[in-house]
Amino acid sequence: MTRFTVNDRPVHYRMDPDTPLLWALRDASNLTGAKYGCGTGDCGACTVDIDGEATRSCQISIAQAEGRFVTTIEALSPDRGHPVQQAFAADNVSQCGYCIPGVIMAAQALLRRTNDPSDEQIDAAITNICRCGVYPRLRGAIKRAGRIMRGEEQVAAAPPPGIAPEDAARAVPALGKR
Ligand code: FES
Ligand code: FES
Repeated sequence: MTRFTVNDRPVHYRMDPDTPLLWALRDASNLTGAKYGCGTGDCGACTVDIDGEATRSCQISIAQAEGRFVTTIEALSPDRGHPVQQAFAADNVSQCGYCIPGVIMAAQALLRRTNDPSDEQIDAAITNICRCGVYPRLRGAIKRAGRIMRGEEQVAAAPPPGIAPEDAARAVPALGKR
């Protein structure tokens, strides 16, 4: 069976049960935030949240996702207001941006476990590969996100997306609302 929950909505993919979750999300649900980088579990570009754990979606089949709760970058917040997104925008972390959805999904899972992570915890949790080399800014932005979550810091809202959330939800019904 291939029934599970994606972004708070029940889904049933009528696809080969061995299909990697990444391709079901991208090709069937049009959720293209999770990226294909290597297909071998090394780069982390495809990272999504499954039951609270950062998971490389190229390495899990839709059969293995049966009954689980999958959250993609599209549903992390309705308005890019998640503390990690705020901190990444404030610190200008992104360069080309290709790896960033996966990094953000890994970072939010870490911060849910501990909102004051050490350098070692960040390095252990964020094993994603960035071809642009934004690594020096990652630690600082994740620590900043922790301060935002702890109520010790506020940052200006991230700039509005180029499309209104309601228009995006109409264009991509799988985005839904949280
Ligand atoms: S595409 Fe999944 S880890 Fe690289
Ligand atoms: S920002 Fe370009 S790959 Fe990471």
